[in-house]
Amino acid sequence: MRVILITGGTGFIGSNFIKYFIRRNKDFVVINMDNLGPMSNLNNLKELERSPRYHFVNGSICNQELVNYVIKRHRPDIIINFAAETNVNKSLANPMIFSQTNILGTLTLLESARYFWGKNNFKGKRFIQLSTSQVYGSTYKEDDFFTEESPISPQNPYAASKASADLVVKSFYDSYGFPAIIARCCQNYGPFQNTEEFIPSCIINILNNRDISTKPDVLTKKEWIHVLDNCVGLIRIIFYGKTGEIYNIGSGYELSNYEIAQELLKLSGKTYDTVKPESNIRCGLNSYKLKNNLKWGVKYPIAEGLIDTIHWYKSAFLNKNI
Ligand SMILES: NC(=O)c1ccc[n+]([C@@H]2O[C@H](COP(=O)([O-])OP(=O)(O)OC[C@H]3O[C@@H](n4cnc5c(N)ncnc54)[C@H](O)[C@@H]3O)[C@@H](O)[C@H]2O)c1
Repeated sequence: MRVILITGGTGFIGSNFIKYFIRRNKDFVVINMDNLGPMSNLNNLKELERSPRYHFVNGSICNQELVNYVIKRHRPDIIINFAAETNVNKSLANPMIFSQTNILGTLTLLESARYFWGKNNFKGKRFIQLSTSQVYGSTYKEDDFFTEESPISPQNPYAASKASADLVVKSFYDSYGFPAIIARCCQNYGPFQNTEEFIPSCIINILNNRDISTKPDVLTKKEWIHVLDNCVGLIRIIFYGKTGEIYNIGSGYELSNYEIAQELLKLSGKTYDTVKPESNIRCGLNSYKLKNNLKWGVKYPIAEGLIDTIHWYKSAFLNKNI
């Protein structure tokens, strides 16, 4: 059996990834290391609790002793680092914890993997760092898409911590030949996302017949991808990506929060108002490299992805699971 260590696997993308990955890769054991922060939910992975191919470690990626123990004991062939502080608004209120987890936590993982994997010259090993389109910042130009070569220009402490982590990961590749790849994803949506986040909170309000409000200051058009499309992209990167490279994962669907809210209302058969705030700032990725070199493509058009998401939350809501 091969082993994949997944950090932050109890959060939104990580838990979707684990379920998707474990079903399709029966020759792998999955180790999920997560410190169960407020964005995590152990129920996301309840169905795997008894699987002999799934092990959960409750702990922080910032704890070097524990990380060393996990890597020494389980000897992962692949590490994929989802663990992070992720809420942009919280990063504005408390930037320190974002740097600690997102930069130093990543460095802790890298150092441990370098030590244990280095004994065998990194043979057969892979480290995937989850990064974000937010490291590129945003643009006013309509036809400007960020490529992997675009300069980084983070505009909030969360994005800055992720951009810094990317630089640390890159430095390990450049300095030690460490087998790292960086995946920069756009905004994910889909099942199992914390209900504090924008799309789930809109859906819950719609289900409760409450108004949904989009803050007028959140005008940037973001690029939205269904989480399973993102997971498939990550799996292509794990198995076929080139070490030392960065891959953008974007869907091409750019919508402001306002437009997303209108779409959710329409798909739920509700009436909606028509005053549309101007939104001319955007952040769109050029994902040609992943599409062309690793033969990846998006399966969920935005409307289908949102319907799937509404159905999931409706069912979880009715079953009192959220
Ligand atoms: N959600 C998105 O739209 C999006 C977009 C681009 C990139 N990303 C990146 O993808 C990754 C996962 O995002 P998500 O939306 O699933 O986040 P999330 O907040 O839902 O999950 C993060 C998980 O990491 C865990 N965690 C936090 N600090 C930890 C620590 N010190 N040690 C161990 N575990 C820790 C949390 O408990 C949680 O389970 C993050 O690295 C994020 O920056 C997310």
